[in-house]
This record gives sequence, C-alpha cells and structure tokens, in this order.
Amino acid sequence: MTLSTIIQHFPKDFIFGTATSSYQIEGSKLGNCGESHWDTFSKRKNTTFKNQDGSLACKHIDNWEQDLDLVANAGFDAYRFSLSWPRILKDGQKEKNYKGISFYDQLIDGMLERGIRPFATLYHWDLPQALAATGGWTNRDTCEWFADYTELVMTQFGDRLFSIATLNEPWCIAWLSYYLGEHAPGLKNFSAAVEAMHQILLAHGKSLAVLKDLGHKNVGIVLNETYLQPASQSNADLSARNLCDEIYNRWFLEAIFNGQYPTKALKLFENLMPKNFQDDLHLINQKLDWLGINYYTREIVKNDKTEKNLGFKTYHGNLPKTAMGWEIFPEGIFKILTTIMDEYSKLVPIHITENGLANPDYIKNGHINDVDRIRFYEEHLMQIKALIDTGVPVKSYFAWSLLDNFEWAHGYEKRFGLVYVDFDTQKRIPKKSYFDYKNALTQKKHKT
Ligand code: FCB
Repeated sequence: MTLSTIIQHFPKDFIFGTATSSYQIEGSKLGNCGESHWDTFSKRKNTTFKNQDGSLACKHIDNWEQDLDLVANAGFDAYRFSLSWPRILKDGQKEKNYKGISFYDQLIDGMLERGIRPFATLYHWDLPQALAATGGWTNRDTCEWFADYTELVMTQFGDRLFSIATLNEPWCIAWLSYYLGEHAPGLKNFSAAVEAMHQILLAHGKSLAVLKDLGHKNVGIVLNETYLQPASQSNADLSARNLCDEIYNRWFLEAIFNGQYPTKALKLFENLMPKNFQDDLHLINQKLDWLGINYYTREIVKNDKTEKNLGFKTYHGNLPKTAMGWEIFPEGIFKILTTIMDEYSKLVPIHITENGLANPDYIKNGHINDVDRIRFYEEHLMQIKALIDTGVPVKSYFAWSLLDNFEWAHGYEKRFGLVYVDFDTQKRIPKKSYFDYKNALTQKKHKT
C-alpha cells in the first residue's frame, strides 16, 4: 500500500503532524539566546561529528515563516516544536530575553494563522548553561527553576498552545547524558545518572502541577520507548533484558502511572537515590491528559558482566538498518503500545510524537528521491492503524523531522528531514517524502 492509501484509512479526526526541536533548528547564536549546555558540550573536542554545533543550525530564527509555510503547504494539521529555555530566560532563572519571547509569540501566532495546531514541548534538551554549571539535573534546585520557567511560558503563551509536553525523552536527558556520556553534559557517572533519573521526573511533576494549576487541559510527557529483545532465551539474558527494560522504559512508566519505581532497577540504584525520594512520587504520579511516545528501533540485550554497574550491554541486531545504524523494526511500536496500554496507561490518549529515519539523501537533477524514508513511514503507519483497530487510542502521528537539522552528537551528517537543508545556503528543498505526504494529506482533506 502507498502512503496515500494508508493515510486515507485513518479516522477523520486523526492528527498528522511533523516535529522539530529548538536547539536542532533555531541557531543558538541568533536572537540573543542564552548559552545552553549543548553549546558548551559541542565546544569540547570530539564530542560531536566534526566538532559541529547548533549555533546556526537551520537558522530557523530567520526562516521560520517559510518553515511554517512548508508545514502548512504539506497539509499537516499540527506542528510539534520545543521552546528553548535559555532563549526565554538567559540564565535559566531571572534574565528574560524579550527577543526570545517575542520570537515564540510570532511563531505560535504564525501557526494559528496557518491553521496548524501548536504542540509545544517545554524541554527538548537545551538546558541553560548557567544551570548546568550548578549541577544541572543532579541539582534538585533545577526542578524548581523548571517549574518557574513553566509558569512563565504558560502565562505568555499557554492559551494559544493546543498541547504541552513537559519533557522530551527523560531517559535521554538522564541516562544517555549522565551515564552513557553521549549527550550534554557528557558525563559517565553512575551516581550522577541515578540522581538525574529521579530529578528529571521530579521536574516533570513540578511542571505538571504548575500547568494544571494554571488551567491547561491538554498536558503530557514524551517518552522514548525502545523495543528490547533478549539476545537468547537463557536465564541470564532474559533477566538482563528485564533489568534493561526497567531502566530504559519502566522507570518512567511505573513512576508516572503507578507512583513507584520498578523493583530491580530501584534495588540497583537505592544507595545512590536522592534522600527521601519517596516523598516526591505523588507529584510524579499526577494524572496526564495524554502520553507521547517516540519510537525508532529495537535493541538486543545481552548479559555481560564486563559492564560493571549493570551487568548487561545493548546492541543493534541484523535487520536492515537506517543511516543511524538503527534496525528498522515497525512491529516494535505495536508491541510496545499494546504492553503500555495493558499494563499502564489504560485509556489515556496516545500521541506518536516522533518516528522517522536518517537516510544518506542526495540531490539528483534537483530532486531527492528518498524512497527508503517513504517505505519506513508506510510500514510504521500500518502498525499505527492496526493499533487503532485493536482499540489503542492513538490520536496523532508526527513525522520526525520537518527539516534536516543538527542531529546532536551526529552533527549535520544524519539527515532526518522531509525537507532537505543545504546548510551552506540555508536553501530548503522538499524531498519526495514531503510531496508524498502532501499528496496523501490533500486527498484525505478532500475526502472529509
Ligand atoms: C530523538 C530526539 C530527536 C531526534 C531523534 C532522531 O531521540 O528526540 O531530537 O534526535 O531522536
């Protein structure tokens, strides 16, 4: 089935959107933005591909109107974007950047004028450097400052935002960044990672309380879920897989939906957990209006005692891979969401807030024929449709990403966009996947 045929089978009110994030597109050097820990991290040698950074990125600060036109012209109903904390508060606490506030004012109005629903994320990884300097997510005060920042965003823009997510991918914010060291601040420190694993959820809880107090009715969080498969059926690999699942996935689900941490992971972390962490769980366990899921791939988990803290390692298996080296495993999203529905979120609406692939795209005769990306979207959307048919309340799907952008430690090498960006000229060139979406969404609109 083609993308267009698949999309015609979705419910009338299903929301199709596309997503980006602030640091990956805006250009952190522009518009009087404060420094973020990604600026600092990228300045350290060999942390990112060719030492690239997000200082200019897609220069979205200057190009936002044409970027929103691209969203609208493709027929997307919604745009998922994030607000940059240091662009709004340069030091993360008090120093307001009026240029930044007015940028988001215009951007949000620009979406509404074009009939695009704004799905905002408050934190997609660009922590103000001033707060990173005092410990970042290992410092409990950061949670309070995040709540204050939430209040400012809510009072400035809240009534115009269709939905608000507190955080994007807490596992990446804590584990990937403080234990695996792949993202800012680039630590490989078990005890810092454990503190961050709790504190990031506390920040979510405090922010959620503010959003609810101020009356927002459509608030959620975005989790990244990886499908985890044991390397074999041996007891050692099965139990390694389960521990990994507790750290990667269930840590967040269990705390958010049940107000507790999963037992094995907690046992491993216990001595390093912040004091009286139990007292924070009621804040983390507040009711959500929706749950956002980002899905990309599966990983294999193997018992490995050379990994001294956890006793397991993860790796990608033998299925065909994207340019990121990530296996393409569309069934994973079906399996993950049915498990979440059965075990956790019951009937909380689900948004698929990210899904997509990096591809070695190139221009030939002015065109980019990204057939692999189109196939990826087709295969994953078929799984989403099957989920809806089995009663899982999936309400939207966001293609990652609108634009090729700064793919974190991979710099500009990995291209995820529906639209190609020539980073020398900042020219945007829609790829075939963009036109296929446009065709599909136009047909859907005519039908309804
Ligand atoms: C997700 C991130 C997003 C992008 C994609 C490829 O984990 O949320 O910013 O990097 O991966």
